[in-house]
Amino acid sequence: MCGIIGIVGRNDAIPLILDGLRRLEYRGYDSAGIVVHADDGLTTVRRAGKLGHLIEAFDDVSLATTSGIGHTRWATHGAPTDTNAHPHCDPTGRVAVVHNGIIENYQALRQEFPAEVFASDTDSEVVAHLVAREMAAHSVELFDAVQRVVPRLNGAYSLCLVAADEPDTIVVAKLEAPLIVAATDTASYCASDVAALIAHTRDVAALLDGQIAKLTPDGIEVVDHSGNPSEPHAYHVSWDLEAAEKQGFAHFMRKEIFEQPTAVSDTLLDRLTGLDGARKLHLDELRIDERELARVNKVTILACGTSLHAGMLGRLAIEHFAGLPVEVEVASEFRYRDPIVDSNTLVIAISQSGETVDTIAAAQYAKEQQAPMIALVNVVGSTLARTADGVMYTHAGPEVAVASTKAFTTQIVGCLLLGLYLAQVRGTRYSTEIAEVVGKLGDIPQAISDVLATEAAIEALAKKYYNTPYTMFIGRHAGLPIAMEGALKLKEISYLHAEAFPAGEMKHGPIALIEPGSLVVAIAFDGHVFEKMISNIQEVRARGAAVLAITSASRVEELQAHADDVIAIPDMALELAAPVVAVVPLQLFSYHVAQLRGEDVDQPRNLAKTVTVE
Ligand code: G6P
Repeated sequence: MCGIIGIVGRNDAIPLILDGLRRLEYRGYDSAGIVVHADDGLTTVRRAGKLGHLIEAFDDVSLATTSGIGHTRWATHGAPTDTNAHPHCDPTGRVAVVHNGIIENYQALRQEFPAEVFASDTDSEVVAHLVAREMAAHSVELFDAVQRVVPRLNGAYSLCLVAADEPDTIVVAKLEAPLIVAATDTASYCASDVAALIAHTRDVAALLDGQIAKLTPDGIEVVDHSGNPSEPHAYHVSWDLEAAEKQGFAHFMRKEIFEQPTAVSDTLLDRLTGLDGARKLHLDELRIDERELARVNKVTILACGTSLHAGMLGRLAIEHFAGLPVEVEVASEFRYRDPIVDSNTLVIAISQSGETVDTIAAAQYAKEQQAPMIALVNVVGSTLARTADGVMYTHAGPEVAVASTKAFTTQIVGCLLLGLYLAQVRGTRYSTEIAEVVGKLGDIPQAISDVLATEAAIEALAKKYYNTPYTMFIGRHAGLPIAMEGALKLKEISYLHAEAFPAGEMKHGPIALIEPGSLVVAIAFDGHVFEKMISNIQEVRARGAAVLAITSASRVEELQAHADDVIAIPDMALELAAPVVAVVPLQLFSYHVAQLRGEDVDQPRNLAKTVTVE
């Protein structure tokens, strides 16, 4: 949710902190602020609104410092105002904190201080008060004080603190919210995400839950919750600074849409190893015996948002290839039920970031029930990747736009590969057949490129429909998750009302909404439900709806008789590969609708990319 950065080194830190915040802004953009060590103590600059407001504030502030921390906020407790913007200080101005997560017992903790000492409505501010009180009462340094305070905090946090009298120190603590640290010859860094550090180093370490670290210009000391020396999870980032830039595209979303042919190729790269005839699919990391995976009798997929839609396609792939029953669960609901998972249930957690707190919590619940777990994630070294027994990375590269695009298409491909992998492990498909299907997946990148080449026609349709107040998306089988993703994309970035329905369910209620002028987007690519989709399209058309259909090239002529507008995708040799391609015109459609409506495509209102609060 929020983004955190801290730098303590030998060079001017403010430009580096602001640049890091720019790369973290996708995590939240309600307000931003930084605190630095200046000659006469801590100096804080905070502004409500997007990061640009904070950067403008520095036009009037002349500060030189080698150490400081910064924050970009997605509001939870307290409105997005200047006073609720982080950093927060204790009343004496000795300690300042930035925080990502939620301190659930903050109200009880606030009772320990007079109400009037609090300057904000946030759950975070009390941490600065607690740490400052601890430093004063026990004459201890910041590092010790933080170690004394964090056991009292309930909830989830990555915390980053500075103290006025320790100009060369930043202290961080992590529990259930991501925090990366890195040390170079010139500085030590911490950040919510590697994107903020990639300009400085590609060798980083993820702090583990319970770890607390002290950063100085000379390096990083990490201890566990008992104060014993402890090792974070070190790793090398495979992508570079250029990958995290817009590279000439107007928006990250557009860049990421156009990166999809390469991203899908990277997901597929080197998946089959071994000699001809005995080639085997493999995961990127496997910390469990494949025989255990072979024993499972059910699969439970856990995910949120766009990743959930990929999970719905994962169900189709696993049922089809591996013959296992599959449940797809909204992660934020899962653990509040009495879900039936045990050591015979394989849990597949799908997440671009690997940090979505609901998905992590659901996966942890399943692990407590002894369920083996595979993570399908994009971000290497993320929490889900580290906690799973096996990992398949999507290798999509950094995704910055809040509206997910390349993460989704690569997740679907990852799901297809997982279905085939489970078929291999369980012996439900011959290896030759698996290799043949993997070969067919190789057609996807070119098919996506072909769709991208039709952007002008899709933009023209966006111009035709961008003022339509309500759009229904309908689909069946593999078209249904694509309908849901199409509706999500449209509402996320254009704020137009859009809902998706299984096409067969329309007659049980939603069709009552149809009236002349309604727009229905029908996902009707070639496959075993194509004819059924034609019937459902006719039903809505008979009631006055305009129909925009996505179909396969060989079906265009047929569809033209039933739809007002038709977008063609290439024919795919594998029916389950079609959804990967069919979502691309919907991404472009939403992008252009949002553009035409003048909305902020990369930073839609009220949303954040990595959702680290429940
Ligand atoms: C947020 C993002 C979505 C994403 C969802 C799940 O809502 O805006 O794009 O699909 O979180 O995120 P994850 O990182 O777990 O895939």
